[in-house]
Amino acid sequence: MDTFVQLVYFLTALVFILGLRRMSAPGTARSGIVWAGLAMAAATLVTFLTPDMQNFGLMLVAIVLGTVVAWVAAKRVAMTDMPQMVAVYNGMGGGAAGSIAAVELLRGEFESTGLMALAVLGALIGAVSFAGSLMAFAKLQGLISSRPLIFPAQRPFNLAVLLVAVGVGVWLLRDDAAAFILLFFVAALAFGVLVTLPIGGGDMPVVISLFNALTGLAVGFEGFAIGNAALIVAGTVVGAAGTLLTVLMARAMNRSIASVVLGGFGVEQAGGEVKGSLKPIEVEDAAVLLGYASKVIFVPGYGMAVAQAQHKLRELSDLLESKGVEVKYAIHPVAGRMPGHMNVLLAEAGVAYEKLYDLEEINPEFPTADVAVVIGANDVVNPAAHRQGSPLYGMPILDVDKAQNAIVIKRGQGKGFAGVENELFYAENTRMLYGDAQNVLGKLVQALKRL
Ligand code: TAP
Repeated sequence: MDTFVQLVYFLTALVFILGLRRMSAPGTARSGIVWAGLAMAAATLVTFLTPDMQNFGLMLVAIVLGTVVAWVAAKRVAMTDMPQMVAVYNGMGGGAAGSIAAVELLRGEFESTGLMALAVLGALIGAVSFAGSLMAFAKLQGLISSRPLIFPAQRPFNLAVLLVAVGVGVWLLRDDAAAFILLFFVAALAFGVLVTLPIGGGDMPVVISLFNALTGLAVGFEGFAIGNAALIVAGTVVGAAGTLLTVLMARAMNRSIASVVLGGFGVEQAGGEVKGSLKPIEVEDAAVLLGYASKVIFVPGYGMAVAQAQHKLRELSDLLESKGVEVKYAIHPVAGRMPGHMNVLLAEAGVAYEKLYDLEEINPEFPTADVAVVIGANDVVNPAAHRQGSPLYGMPILDVDKAQNAIVIKRGQGKGFAGVENELFYAENTRMLYGDAQNVLGKLVQALKRL
């Protein structure tokens, strides 16, 4: 029976990897998630057949509870709340790894000190990831302030707490009395909370991705500690994929991972004088500009997600196409607040993938566009990114400033995530169309119909 269980674990690990592979293209992503989910279900069920397994009742209760809560939450969650949902799921993974370690440490029946060390290391990483992810959830959900929380001597204090956790963890290898196990977990959980406090809400997606990678690592270590192949493979895959994702996100934001983790970003508002004036435009005039254009490029950003304006945007683009206008969408890699944020929302609204263009593909096309319409984007179109000294310096941007005309839809003078003034908004050929993105796009559709 044990061989059968191990065989199923091995197969599920393979399906995890194949599922992940399918997630890398929009057309197969959905099925990739289903594959990985089914593999996870198989791995969970086959665990019941493990020789000497006990506590079936408790396991069943946990599975039913987890399934019901996760199902209802996933059905209800709004697209804009997805980052914090991911944070919670991540945290659960880290918590599960930590819990496995806690049980094993309390049992104290490790085959070798090496395996025990792995369990302790996994517990440390898992507990930090658990507490940190829950803090990230609380910040993104608005339960606590999403601004960086800074206090004097914060870094030395955090380091001291980490050293206590590591020190007690090492001590556990010699003396695993319950009191030390408790102290170890308290210190590790406290460090998870403390390390997340100084990180601003906007940086959270990178941090969540980092915690995700750490959770994978923790699960992998616990897999070694309890001899479970499925945990080892799944943990390693998540750890590797999560690390890559974290690096890519940080790079696209032109931030180092160290600067994200050390936090404090967004505390000092980046100034910078911008010449010129903001020139508003009325909906009717904007509709005329769009209706008589031959090529329009839409540039969605975080504001589109907040306003849930993707459906109205699709309606507008359908209408323009029916009038013979060529329509394209420019997607910046870090538009919004999570990887693929714009792609997911536009796909939800039924925009065809072929109309979405990456930064490198679309940038040469801006000079040939009659109108570029920016919908709640700011940093990803900010030419300040070309200037040394700007917090955005080095981030590749969408060249909206090169379009014949630009229309920027936003509610007011709000800055982008990086807090930098945007000179595109003051440019000669830019017009500001003020209002909530969904509302404004709805009015544009009506105005265009009247043309
Ligand atoms: P942002 O720079 O955040 O700008 C969003 C703009 O949308 C704001 O200026 C705001 O102006 C406007 N807005 C907000 N609510 C709106 C609404 N209801 N209707 C219309 N407009 C609204 O967005 P972006 O250009 O997408 O850039 C993303 C930023 O987030 C980048 O700096 C990126 O590095 C960062 N970031 C991205 C990620 C990922 S992975 N995508 C992760 C972490 C951080 P008003 O207040 O005037 O309306």
